[in-house]
Amino acid sequence: MSCHKSYITTPIYYVNDVAHIGHAYTTIIADTLARYARLIGEDTFFLTGTDEHGQKIEEAAKSRGKETQAYADEISKTFRDLWDEFDISYDKFIRTTDEDHKKGVQKAFTVMYDNGDIYKDTYSGHYCISCETFFPETQLVDGEFCPDCGKPTSIVEEESYFFKLSAYEDRLLAWYKENPECILPKSKRNEVIRFVEGGLNDLSITRTSFDWGVKLPEKFNDPKHVMYVWLDALMNYVTALGYGTDDAKMDYWPARVHLIGKDILRFHAIYWPAFLMSLGLPLPKHIGAHGWWTRNGEKMSKSKGNVVNPKEVADAYGLENFRYFMLREVPFGGDGDFSQRALMDRINSDLGNDLGNLLNRLIGMSGKYFEGRVECDNVAKYYQSELDEVEASLEKLNPFIFELQLHRYLEELWRPLTVANRAIDKYQPWTMIKEGKTEETMALNGLIATILAKVSLMLHAVMPKTTTTICNALGFEVTPENFEKIVKNGEILTPFITQKREPLFPRIEEELLVDERAEALKKEKEEAEAKKKAQKEAKKANKNSTEGVALIGIDQFFQTSLKVGTVVKAEEVPKSKKLLLLQVDLGEDEPRQIVAGIKEWYSAEDMLDTQVCVVANLKPAKLMGMVSEGMLLAAKDKDGLCMVRPEKPKTNGTPIG
Ligand code: MSP
Repeated sequence: MSCHKSYITTPIYYVNDVAHIGHAYTTIIADTLARYARLIGEDTFFLTGTDEHGQKIEEAAKSRGKETQAYADEISKTFRDLWDEFDISYDKFIRTTDEDHKKGVQKAFTVMYDNGDIYKDTYSGHYCISCETFFPETQLVDGEFCPDCGKPTSIVEEESYFFKLSAYEDRLLAWYKENPECILPKSKRNEVIRFVEGGLNDLSITRTSFDWGVKLPEKFNDPKHVMYVWLDALMNYVTALGYGTDDAKMDYWPARVHLIGKDILRFHAIYWPAFLMSLGLPLPKHIGAHGWWTRNGEKMSKSKGNVVNPKEVADAYGLENFRYFMLREVPFGGDGDFSQRALMDRINSDLGNDLGNLLNRLIGMSGKYFEGRVECDNVAKYYQSELDEVEASLEKLNPFIFELQLHRYLEELWRPLTVANRAIDKYQPWTMIKEGKTEETMALNGLIATILAKVSLMLHAVMPKTTTTICNALGFEVTPENFEKIVKNGEILTPFITQKREPLFPRIEEELLVDERAEALKKEKEEAEAKKKAQKEAKKANKNSTEGVALIGIDQFFQTSLKVGTVVKAEEVPKSKKLLLLQVDLGEDEPRQIVAGIKEWYSAEDMLDTQVCVVANLKPAKLMGMVSEGMLLAAKDKDGLCMVRPEKPKTNGTPIG
């Protein structure tokens, strides 16, 4: 899948808010691809920018009491500043308010019209301003809310120009079919195919309800219409190359990859190729849709106050560590969770232990045994099997990048580091040097340097500054030529002298950012657990409470004969700690004999001549060899047991109920 020109794009970001981790993620993936393409010698053009038209932006400006263009200027600048601070290697930062862009969009409108793909009609539908999209009634949630973002939609009826999207169904399906990798990951392509197979409606591509947008070309003489933002925005990918103004630069087209988030896949995988077909332009090679970031397992939202600010994270943990984390942590296309724990683990383990430590070991050993000198001439003589293992891993890597499997790329790239660390443990240079195996020891250092060099070059696109530092420590510059020599052609490093240096990845022991939301979540969890525990204990204490007891009818209750009686004789049961032997007068011919387990709380004396409540129709039972003809009612809780007695003296045999 090699091509000599690589045009790589990010979405252009709406200027209704400042950048968050989602924007940074898309941009960092694109930056990584662009840097990689440049390093392998491809003629690369990397585009990013801001999407500034539409009702959403107009309203955002209004709500802040600002003039729309001034507001767009201000927010657009915050994006550009952030990317500059993040050292994003874009070749052009486009703004949809740029004059050239507007001209390009107008030209596209004319071309599509001339091709018979645009007609005028009226449109009535439910419009979500936040998503800048119309939805059919059947898709609305509860008849009113946007199925994508959940916000209320409003009914819009207006005159509109339409793009004949329905006419492109078959051509789109053929494109997906003939280009299995046009949408990555491939699972997303299937989703798109199913959607298109469900049928496409023509697309309303102008609005008259507001005017913050690109006007129609003058020849249409229809000044109340402005272009639909998605037509305007998607066109940025070609206007940035001069479409409509300076077509000379269009030779970067078609894009090698449009990087986007999964939420905007439909626009890129359906509308955009249809527009391009109408314009007679080639289609992009790949559209890569990444997943969604959550924080500590929760969706990010302003109201929860848990939106990850990429600058704060980069400032606290290091920009390149953050880049590595984002690309390594999540399989492309899948959703990812941001937590400081996960970030710290990646830094301490992958970067600190595996990579940083290897460089330290090399500097340490070469310093101790060879005054810093490292030579690689004899590596193959002693460590061919290790070199083979490294090559086998590296060979697998190349396709991963442009298949956008960056996590797999990084995972595989770490294997050579394991080979190096294992080789040190296996060959024990400290023993070899004592045994006089100087050449073997130098070759082992050479092996480590070779592995570090190759890995650093291949990691360069992800961590440009860190790997430049490593390569410089190994005596060479990061250039496409050196990439070719060292990685592709396996040329041996020229001898160099190592210098002692500060560790590249100091260990991070505790979270560096205060995360109020995470603390609130932790507290909520602790409280919920405490509540659960308390409930459990209360349940245990209330064993005799009604909780968990089967419900009975009143007839069942009256099957129990409860009576008032008087204890006329009471004595202890010999050898029993618990039992008293009672004779209870229930108004019958003879007193009943009742064996009661109450001795821990009542003495025989306590019970004598007191009134009690008795279950009088229990089957007689034997306790310690004595017959018991009833049971006393008593209540027991954690403080002990007490008898249930009538409040006032009652005739013996009085029924209870
Ligand atoms: N302006 C449009 C794009 C037009 S491209 C011709 C737009 N802008 S956006 O600012 O809302 O979003 C830009 C990108 O940020 C999208 O790729 C989107 O997927 C991504 N993200 C926004 N929130 C995100 C997360 N929480 N996680 C990951 N990415 C997310 O859409």
